[in-house]
Amino acid sequence: METPANIAVFISGGGSNLQSLIDASRDGRLHGRIALVVSNKAGAYGLERARNEGIDTMVYRVKNYSSKEAAASDLLAMLDEYRVQYIALAGYLKLLPAAAVKKYSGRITNIHPALLPKYGGKGMYGHHVHEAVLASGDSESGATVHMADEIYDNGRILMQKTVPVKPGDTPDSLAARVLKVEHEIYPIALDNLIRGEYE
Ligand code: GRF
Repeated sequence: METPANIAVFISGGGSNLQSLIDASRDGRLHGRIALVVSNKAGAYGLERARNEGIDTMVYRVKNYSSKEAAASDLLAMLDEYRVQYIALAGYLKLLPAAAVKKYSGRITNIHPALLPKYGGKGMYGHHVHEAVLASGDSESGATVHMADEIYDNGRILMQKTVPVKPGDTPDSLAARVLKVEHEIYPIALDNLIRGEYE
């Protein structure tokens, strides 16, 4: 296969999924390289992970621009500059601008800490997801990698893996169990996409 695909990873927080993609890229399990890490939060620990790996970063805040359009065009220019071919959302709490969704259509993925289509949509992120799963009494949860667009947690499901919900689970204990499988499946699903296995 040709040269590894250039991937931009978008984060808002700790970036443990970013790290799993970086590690997979390094050991050849992911046929891509992380060319750029974009965060809407300047203090996100994931940015430090990127810098530690020598990966360039961008803090992207729509509020810092005169208009939404100006923000989107700066983001697209940056993605062009890094010859980005795929966008991997990894704990990114914002929606991408419509222009980016259009340009990268079919090449944007997201990881969600539940078994979509359950427990998705606006406001369903972080501990809210795990609280909802525990409140429902479901006996299992899991992680989902899906194609992303301009609607939260929408798009074709590419890969899912379940974990049990155990008696006495708290949102934190369930989140930790789910996060482990997120790290497992995200590099695999993204690699499959890059290799054209979902066409
Ligand atoms: C993960 O649970 C991801 O599914 C969710 O946000 C969390 C991000 O964790 N969307 P990290 O920043 O990758 O450590």
